[in-house]
This record gives sequence, structure tokens and C-alpha cells, in this order.
Amino acid sequence: MFRAVYLQKTDSGIAADVRELPEDRLPGGDVLVAVEYSTINYKDGLAVTGQIPVVRSWPMVPGIDLAGTVLESVNPRFKPGAKVLINGYALGVDHWGGLAQKARVKGEWLVPVPKVFSTLQAMAIGTAGYTAMLCVIALEKQGVRPSAGPVLVTGAAGGVGSIAIALLARLGYQVTASTGRMDEAPFLTRLGAAEVIDRATLSSPGEVLGKETWAGAVDTVGSTTLANICASTRYRGAVAACGLAQGLDFPSSVLPFILRNITLCGIDSVMAPYAVRTEAWERLARDLEVGKVDAVTQVRGLADAIPVARAILTGSVRGRVVIDVNN
Ligand SMILES: NC(=O)c1ccc[n+]([C@@H]2O[C@H](COP(=O)([O-])OP(=O)(O)OC[C@H]3O[C@@H](n4cnc5c(N)ncnc54)[C@H](OP(=O)(O)O)[C@@H]3O)[C@@H](O)[C@H]2O)c1
Repeated sequence: MFRAVYLQKTDSGIAADVRELPEDRLPGGDVLVAVEYSTINYKDGLAVTGQIPVVRSWPMVPGIDLAGTVLESVNPRFKPGAKVLINGYALGVDHWGGLAQKARVKGEWLVPVPKVFSTLQAMAIGTAGYTAMLCVIALEKQGVRPSAGPVLVTGAAGGVGSIAIALLARLGYQVTASTGRMDEAPFLTRLGAAEVIDRATLSSPGEVLGKETWAGAVDTVGSTTLANICASTRYRGAVAACGLAQGLDFPSSVLPFILRNITLCGIDSVMAPYAVRTEAWERLARDLEVGKVDAVTQVRGLADAIPVARAILTGSVRGRVVIDVNN
């Protein structure tokens, strides 16, 4: 038996509880993992509440991330005892996920936990931190260097935003953090933000072309904010768009693209090819200060996963929440 968060679709919505399940109910896969930690991402909030229907099969054990130790494996790449992690793929939406003491998964989804990180730290980073790294790599590939000028991070006090700030600052960028929680300015400054602005300055419809301000941006909120960022990105600058916390619309014009030659880089972490994932985790191991990750992380027990998943959709969770599934 193992404990897990369990989601069922009912006539009145989604029912979520924590329960004991027999191991033979785990889905198919060539590797059995003793999960140590999972985490709560925005997508887990969507899975638990059904606010946007991300779960594709029922019942579901949510959790798009996990880290733990291989218990059994018929996959030649992973031996029992190996420390492994998964971000995304079908986990927690189409295949039982990480908010459980055990998971049976496809070995091709597993990434070795980098030696510099514990399994707890790997989940403090989680999909949020790995996505932040994909965004930073995308800006670098577009030639956005620290000397090019200020780089904006939206949703700054959230998971992706807070780790993006820590990464960019460590790499020498001058980071402007945009947040709806100005009382979090000291926290964002400690992470490495040189400037903190109120997200209200970006969230309402603005000019199709504004003052050239940002050399680059990591946007986690989408909608009018993303349109305004594009309108104020400098000539040949780049914007990495990964999120929709404000909305999934994009009310922009072509002008920033055809007059300022800006680039909008779409970021998907879920189905990113294996080589892209391992590059991101190698860069996280090199470029992320572990102390900064510890400072943005709180650890909670499995029973807290459901209320925290609901809270993340209200934008009230600061940084990262790791779930100790054995607690
Ligand atoms: N593309 C991918 O593969 C991928 C991977 C991971 C996450 N994501 C997406 O990235 C976004 C952030 O994920 P996360 O895990 O970091 O979530 P999170 O921890 O909840 O952070 C989201 C942040 O967005 C800001 N926000 C919330 N509501 C807003 C609104 N109405 N208008 C403007 N800003 C708002 C808040 O930051 P402030 O309080 O600082 O303003 C909030 O903390 C989500 O949309 C998620 O779905 C995408």
C-alpha cells in the first residue's frame, strides 16, 4: 500500500483526498520509484481544481514533478538505488503522478538528479525552476547578453519568476522584477532583483509600440502584460513566454516584430526533448545558487498538497512549495 493524493471527476466537480492505495493499481511502466518529494506547480492547481481541464484520464494521482529513488527497474539505464527526477511528460495529467509515495513510470522520462542537489532541492527547483532555466537559455540563444540592458521577469514572486530572478542575477543580468505583491520587494531584492515594479504598470492595454526598455524578458503571465512587454522590448531583443497567470490571450500587434525585430520565444517544459531537459538541469547545477533555492522553499506534508494546489491559483503562494510525500 502507498499514500497518494487521489482525484476523481464527479458531477459537481473534482473530488480530492489523500488515501491509501494498493501498489497493483499503479499504471504500467518499466521503473518503480520510491518518491521522496514532489512539489506544487500552477498546473497542479489546475489539476486539483479543474479550473482549466488539464487532467486527461480519471481517476488521477496528480503531481507533475517527482524526485526519489529507483526501487525496481527493467530499464537498463536505471538501477535500483539511483536518484531520479521527472518533470512533466504525462505525469499527473495522463499517468499517475508524483503526489504519492510510489510511482511506476517510463524510464525514458527519468533524469538523474544532479549530484549537487538533494532530492528535496531537485523538487524545490521542480518544473518551475527547470522552466525558468529554459527561458534563460532561450534568451541567451537569441543573443541577449547581460551587457544588453535590463531584463524583466513577471510573476516575480511565484515559482518560475523567483528562480528566473536568481538565475539571471547570478549570470550578471540587471533584473527588473514585476510583482503584484510589492510587500515582497525585499524578498525579490535578496534574490537578485535590481529593481521591483508593480505589475499594474504592465497589466492594462497600452501602446502598440512603447519606449524601448527591456533587452529581454521572462514572462509567466501572458495576456495584456505580454503584449506590453513586446511593445517595450528593445530593438532585436527577445521575450521568453512560458505562462498564462494573467490570461491566455495575447492582444498584441505585429509592429514590435516587424519594426523592432524582436523575437518571441515560446517555452514548453512538458514535452521538451530529453537533450533539452538534461542541458537545463546541467545549467541549473552550474548556475543556480543552492542557498537561493532554499530561501524560496517551504516543505509541507502530503495532506497539505490539496490546499496549496488551490492556493497557487490565487497567486498567494510565495516561491516554491515542496511536498514531503512521506510526511
Ligand atoms: N510553459 C511551461 O512549460 C510552463 C512550466 C511551468 C509553469 N508554466 C506557467 O507559468 C506560470 C507560472 O507558474 P508558477 O508555477 O510560477 O506559478 P505561481 O507560483 O503561481 O506564480 C505565478 C505568479 O504570477 C503572478 N500572477 C498571478 N495572477 C496574476 C494576474 N492575474 N496577473 C498578473 N500576474 C499574476 C503572481 O506573481 P506576483 O504576485 O509576483 O505578481 C504569481 O505568484 C503559470 O501560468 C504556469 O502555468 C508554464
